[in-house]
Formats: sequence, structure tokens, C-alpha cells
Amino acid sequence: MNHKKNILITGGAGFIGSHVVRLFVNKYPDYKILNLDKLTYAGNLLNLKDVEQKSNYEFLRGDIVDSELITNLFADRKFDAVIHLAAESHVDRSIANPMEFIMTNVVGTVNLLNAARNTWKDHSDNKEGSNRNLFYHVSTDEVYGSLGKSGYFTEKTPYDPHSPYSASKASSDHMVRAYYDTYGLPIVISNCSNNYGSNHFPEKLIPLAINNIKNNKPVPVYGKGENVRDWLYVEDHANAIDVLFHKAAPGSTYNIGGNNEWRNIDLILLLCSIMDRKLNRKEGTSAKLITYVKDRAGHDLRYAIDSSKLQDDFGWKPSLQFEEGLEKTVDWYLSNEEWLEQVTSGDYLDYYSQQYTHR
Ligand code: NAD
Ligand code: DAU
Repeated sequence: MNHKKNILITGGAGFIGSHVVRLFVNKYPDYKILNLDKLTYAGNLLNLKDVEQKSNYEFLRGDIVDSELITNLFADRKFDAVIHLAAESHVDRSIANPMEFIMTNVVGTVNLLNAARNTWKDHSDNKEGSNRNLFYHVSTDEVYGSLGKSGYFTEKTPYDPHSPYSASKASSDHMVRAYYDTYGLPIVISNCSNNYGSNHFPEKLIPLAINNIKNNKPVPVYGKGENVRDWLYVEDHANAIDVLFHKAAPGSTYNIGGNNEWRNIDLILLLCSIMDRKLNRKEGTSAKLITYVKDRAGHDLRYAIDSSKLQDDFGWKPSLQFEEGLEKTVDWYLSNEEWLEQVTSGDYLDYYSQQYTHR
């Protein structure tokens, strides 16, 4: 088959990446998708079992930090476009080991930018429509830093990252933009708020809490649980990426958010109540597992996204109410025991017990 578009997706075995791969492979049978992923602790091919046999999909294990591999891959495959999601993504791990974040998130991104620049040499007549070249960089709202009790991040909010993770993502955003300003490489960047949904690695708040409640283990809440996050269902994020990938102008930036702010403690209480109902436990049983622990170093107080640019330009908005999305997410974890068992090794639990001492 002569494919209409030849796309490299990086980090497609991870949480958000697997939803993006699934959407593109199923929705665009005439696109060819290569999923390049190193398969770190966060990458899991079980996430893609339902698409692995599709003729327009291919998986390749590889590290974006390996510049030779990336150069050769672009020379061989002549990609039309890149959707770049591969990253080290967990703030607590970045506090423990910043260098890995610099390597993958910054050096890996620049390797991809160089290869795209060399492949798409002439950007002056950059093609329109389905033939256009595009380097789509998936980023985070954490680059904007922390909000006080009011206000929202817009696309014009100055960057002010605090954790090694957010600083590495901010660096990669700056490099992506620099390749547009300096070389005219056609790029788009989106900065999204906290995602939740299926296939989320149980080191992040929501899947960690679901797994611990299920197993009657303490649910660690950092500090006083007053930090606020703006939660978006992962499939809504994938849909926004689809819209922007096809419609956003080269050089543009878009915020993506759920308009759905929750204090951590309120979110955990809601989750406890859903879990009590699903597990036929007496209301209030799961909440007894809540354990306040030492706060995260440099913990950002509040994130909240203004995504009106995306809504006004392309009519995108989140499709699910949070309570509905959270129920779906809990159902997924309770019926995917094999997945949970595979990712929750003893080593993983040891890692956490070394990082956080209970008060
Ligand atoms: P994840 O940790 O679940 O997945 C990351 C994937 O990248 C994994 O499959 C991993 O194996 C792969 N990877 C890591 N290092 C690699 C390397 N050197 N070479 C190739 N592959 C490598 O992350 P996620 O939560 O799905 O996040 C995906 C992207 O979206 C990241 O860029 C992240 O910064 C961004 N983002 C995440 C969120 C969120 O709430 N999770 C919100 C906004 C933006
Ligand atoms: O905002 C987007 C970002 O959201 C993404 O860029 C990151 O990749 C993603 O990991 C996420 O970062 P957070 O640090 O906000 O997510 P996390 O799930 O780690 O934590 C959510 C909140 O819950 C945060 O305030 C810290 C708190 N927390 C987290 C864990 C893991 C707890 O109270 N207890 C916990 O055990």
C-alpha cells in the first residue's frame, strides 16, 4: 500500500503515547506509523496488544539519545512527520536522578530535531495539507511553574519550571522553538495538564492510589494534600493531539487542559468512595488508608490551564466529566490484573519506600 503519510511516534509504548498510537493506527489506515520506544520501566508493549498486528503499524525498540540510530532511521524511513512523546515523565524520579531527564528529554529531543532538519532540508516551500512535514512536540503545563490560588496558564505565560523534570521539558520546548526560529523547521508544541486513564503507570497519583486501595496499602498524600492539579482524560489529550497535528500552523503553541481542578486530598477522597462502592466495602473504609507523608521537594502548588485558544481555533473540548472518567479508569484497573501485576514489581515498591518516609 502506498501510505499517505509516514509518521514516527516516539514513546508510543508509554501511557499517553499508547493512546496516541492506537488512535492514529485505527483512525488513519492510510498512514504508516512507526513506534520508536526504548521500553524503559514506563514503556509496556502490553499497552498496544490490540494494534500490534495491524498492517500500518510497526514497533522498533530504540533510544532517542542514540544519535547514530536516529540519523540512520530518518535516512532509511524518510518520515513525513514526527509526534514526539518519549520522555522521562515522573517528577519524583527527576528529583532522585536528574541526569536521565537531561539525556532523554533534552539530548534525545535535539537528536530528533537534527534528524528532522536534515531530512526536510527545504522548508521554504513547506507542503500544506496531508503532505506537510511536521515535528509535533508533546509537552507539559509544568514548564509554566506554579500558580497561586487564582489565575490560569495561557500560551503567553513565561516559563518558570521548578523540578528537574519540568526544567528538562522547558529546555526541550525552547530547543524545538529555536529550530523553528533559526532553521524554519515546521514545529508545533502543545502543553497539557495532568492526564489520567488506562495504562497509567502506578507511580503517578491516581493509578498508585487505585492500586494501593485495592491492596489495602497506605495511600501516600504529600504534605497537606492541598496542591491542585487540572485533570484531563487521556483519550481527550490524544484527540487534541490529532486535531493539532492536522490543523495547527507551523511555529504555534497550544495549551490543552481539562478545566477540571482538584485538590489532591479531595480527589483521593472521591477515589476512595468510588473504590468502596466497586469493591463492596463499607463507605469510609478506603479513606482510612490515607497517610500524609513528607512533601515533595519544590512541590508546585497549583496548575490550571486556559485552553481557550484550542477551543476557539478548532472547537476542541474535553468529552468526559471527571467523575465519569474516574469510574472508567477504576473499572479498567480492576479488570486488568495482568497488566497491574506485570508493572508492579518488588523493586518498584522498594524504590518508593526508600524515597518517602511516612510521618
Ligand atoms: P510515560 O513515562 O508513561 O512514557 C514515556 C515513554 O517514553 C515510555 O514508553 C518509555 O519507554 C519511552 N522512553 C523513555 N525514554 C526513552 C528514550 N530515551 N528513547 C525512547 N523512548 C523512551 O510518559 P507519559 O505520561 O505517557 O508522557 C508522554 C509525554 O507527554 C511526555 O513527553 C510527557 O512529558 C508529556 N506529558 C505527560 C503528561 C501526563 O500527565 N502524563 C501531561 C502532559 C505532558
Ligand atoms: O501537569 C502535567 C504533569 O502531570 C506531567 O507533565 C507529568 O509527566 C505527570 O507525571 C504529572 O505530574 P505531577 O507531578 O502533577 O503528577 P503526579 O501524579 O506525580 O502527582 C500529582 C499530585 O499528587 C502532585 O501534587 C503530587 C501528589 N502526589 C503524588 C504521588 C505520586 C501525592 O500526594 N502522593 C503521591 O504518592
